[in-house]
Amino acid sequence: METHEITKRFLSHFENKGHTRVPSAPLILDDPNLLFVNAGMVQFKPYFLGEAPPPYPRATSVQKCVRTPDIDEVGKTTRHNTFFQMAGNFSFGDYFKEGAIEAAWELITKPQSEGGYGLDPARIWATVYEDDAEAAGLWKKLTGLPGERIQSRDGKDNYWDMGVPGPGGPCSEIYYDRGPDYGREGGPVADEDRYIEIWNLVFMQDVRGDKSPKHGHKPIGELPKKNIDTGMGVERVATILQGVENVYETDLVRPVIGRAEEFSGRRYGSDHTDDVRFRVIADHARTGVLLIGDGVTPGNDGRGYVLRRLLRRIIRSARLLGVHEPVLPAFAAVVRDTMGPTYPELVSGFDRIEDVVRVEEEAFLSTLTSGSRIFDLAAEETKRSGGSLLAGDKAFQLHDTYGFPIDLTLEMASEQGLTVDEEGFRTLMNEQRQRAKADAASRKTGHGDLSEYRKVLEQHGETEFLGYTDLQAEAKVVALLEDGVPVSRVGAGKKAELVLDRTPFYAESGGQVADTGVLLGDGVELKVHDVQKIVPGLFVHRVEVLDGEIGIGGALTGSVDQHRRLSIERSHSATHLVHAAVRGAYGKRAAQAGSLNSPGRMRFDFTTSGGVSADVLTEVEEEVNDYLQTNVEVNTFVTTKDKALELGAVALFGEKYGNDVRVVDMGEYSRELCGGTHVDRIGQLGLVKLVGDSSIGSGVHRVEALVGTDALKYVRKEQLLVSQLASTFKVPSEQLPSRIDDVLTRLKNAEKEIEQLRTQQVLGSAGSLADKAEDIGGIAVVAEKLGEGVDSNGLRALASDIRGRLGDRPGIVALFAPQGEKVAFVVATTKAAQAKGVAAGKLVPSFAEAIGGRGGGKPDMAQGGGTNPAGADQAIASLRAAVAQVG
Ligand code: ALA
Repeated sequence: METHEITKRFLSHFENKGHTRVPSAPLILDDPNLLFVNAGMVQFKPYFLGEAPPPYPRATSVQKCVRTPDIDEVGKTTRHNTFFQMAGNFSFGDYFKEGAIEAAWELITKPQSEGGYGLDPARIWATVYEDDAEAAGLWKKLTGLPGERIQSRDGKDNYWDMGVPGPGGPCSEIYYDRGPDYGREGGPVADEDRYIEIWNLVFMQDVRGDKSPKHGHKPIGELPKKNIDTGMGVERVATILQGVENVYETDLVRPVIGRAEEFSGRRYGSDHTDDVRFRVIADHARTGVLLIGDGVTPGNDGRGYVLRRLLRRIIRSARLLGVHEPVLPAFAAVVRDTMGPTYPELVSGFDRIEDVVRVEEEAFLSTLTSGSRIFDLAAEETKRSGGSLLAGDKAFQLHDTYGFPIDLTLEMASEQGLTVDEEGFRTLMNEQRQRAKADAASRKTGHGDLSEYRKVLEQHGETEFLGYTDLQAEAKVVALLEDGVPVSRVGAGKKAELVLDRTPFYAESGGQVADTGVLLGDGVELKVHDVQKIVPGLFVHRVEVLDGEIGIGGALTGSVDQHRRLSIERSHSATHLVHAAVRGAYGKRAAQAGSLNSPGRMRFDFTTSGGVSADVLTEVEEEVNDYLQTNVEVNTFVTTKDKALELGAVALFGEKYGNDVRVVDMGEYSRELCGGTHVDRIGQLGLVKLVGDSSIGSGVHRVEALVGTDALKYVRKEQLLVSQLASTFKVPSEQLPSRIDDVLTRLKNAEKEIEQLRTQQVLGSAGSLADKAEDIGGIAVVAEKLGEGVDSNGLRALASDIRGRLGDRPGIVALFAPQGEKVAFVVATTKAAQAKGVAAGKLVPSFAEAIGGRGGGKPDMAQGGGTNPAGADQAIASLRAAVAQVG
């Protein structure tokens, strides 16, 4: 049975039992405890906790899940996967154990002809938590499962929670016996390879505290209601129903292996080491593509790093299979074809997915090339010194300077029979991380501990933001902190952080910088330097008390620096328009990757494949400025996320939106989800002038623009510069380019001429140099250091000339010409000298060391160079000594 059929049957089964079908949540949800969504229940957590009323009493879903702690195990065993689909049914205070067991049993054992999975009941086993006699009894009563096939296990196996404080409960798991070929008799407690878990039924009833009941600790309370949360491993069921050995061989995963076979010309199943690589590719390609589909981009920390690691492991595995060409786009296409029917975003967003993987692969392949060289040197050095341990600082350098992942260093080291001082590496990594953390914290909050801010939020609730409409407002002080520590009063001259019940000050977010301004009260004056939402919803004002003293409860009137704010708003509105124009030019795949809206200046980063041409940017600028003339009104409204997306509003990847979102709309041209502040009409922008564009790596492009009077000032400055140049060159400005061209050509010609004159001058000195010949043991020797500026050709010509002037005498000419950091030399011998056995080439070693160089040649002429011009005199002395010995 195909995987798509398995999920279809699951959803229909539960829909027929009154469950609402809910689409999979994205892999990234707004939960600080979760790197990725890793279970079907994640999106329903508030309903279990009673934080929100469930919109339906029963739900069913097939959730995409990513679990990455075991990346290194993938492929080595056949049990680990980083991506899988969890089919689940959920009851929010509706049915409980009985309903869950009955419905699961029915689906798995019902004949396939009647819409079930048709598993043989005699092969099913169940486990229950410790002494959950109720569950064990229900299994017997509802399914006829004999007692010996119901095993009880402790919390480690049969208690489920999210790994952090929150909902949890005992569970009952369903296992399928694959038969004696796969392991020992004795049920799941004896062998989990033979008896594979296919479905986990969680009786969600507890609130777990800091310590988990998994490890014997008591739950700290009960959930408001008794719930059901189940998770069926879709791939595992597919493994069974398709009669294959493991997940990698199921219909949705195997095609990627097939593609890798085509690339490599090797066959899956013929060599264990290769098989591991095939599986790594198949697993990681799926996970990588699904993650990118949900907006993750490769980066150096958090989710981005996990993705980067996955993609790099694919590339590396492919290389180990002998494939050196780019592979990721091809694998991504296979994943699109297999997974697309379930997750249409992979089809609609494929252009972008392809871009991301291609750019990442190109970058990594070049890293591999340069890093491998460095690695080889380090490995060689280690071996030469008789060691087998690659130093931690080397591994760190490879990582830090060359972006070489440590796992790669480890793998390459082991291929060469070396190990790596991992501890040394980690120490250095940690130090670096601490530095970065301290740095980031001191920039944003001044300290890392946020608990005091959370307390303020709990006690006083979220700050009411008035700044969409009001730039001035009265408010009350609800909290004061100095260095993160709550205080009750702050006096003149002090800096502090201040929380108000309501505020007109915008806190930095969505790329828009914070407002500044003043807070005035009875005998007190504060300056607001910065505003940050240190914890979500809490506006923390960074203030300096200029005069008087302020205490908790004090009344203040806040006034935002209006001039500055309006300037910021113009920038922010300009960013939306530039975004719209860029999307117009590059299509939807040009996704916003970051922005900064500061007074008079905006910056907008977006991802593209390939370069961004100057022409297109000129068009973007023109289109935006044209549109300004429509002077349309900027509208903002709050609506549901679905409605907003239906209206075509652009949502940003990586941004978290609640159910209600704010839409900022500038006619039909631009519509975005945005919490920022904007101008009333776009005509207020006046002028948007793009001033720079650059690539900032990984396929991300950056454009910068000036807006309004700042744009005008910029244009004026440029204009002034041009008119200064025009007056310097004494031509009208439109003739500047040809005039400058002209001047440059003349300059180049003049330089060439000087060069020629210099050579002539040097050549002209041949006579006087020949006259200076000195007799050493019957050989006429001319050994000279010349001035700068003689090139190698000139040097050779000069030496020949002097040699000619020495006539029939045995003679040697040795000339040294400093050329900046280097020195060139030539040695020439006359026929008579050669007849005495004096060869030019043989003389070179006598002085080469002195100038840090080498060279060689024939008996009549030798040429070369060195890196130590200062050693020329010493070289001459050594040469003379050598000649004296010959003579
Ligand atoms: N939430 C349960 C699990 O992930 C079903 O296993």
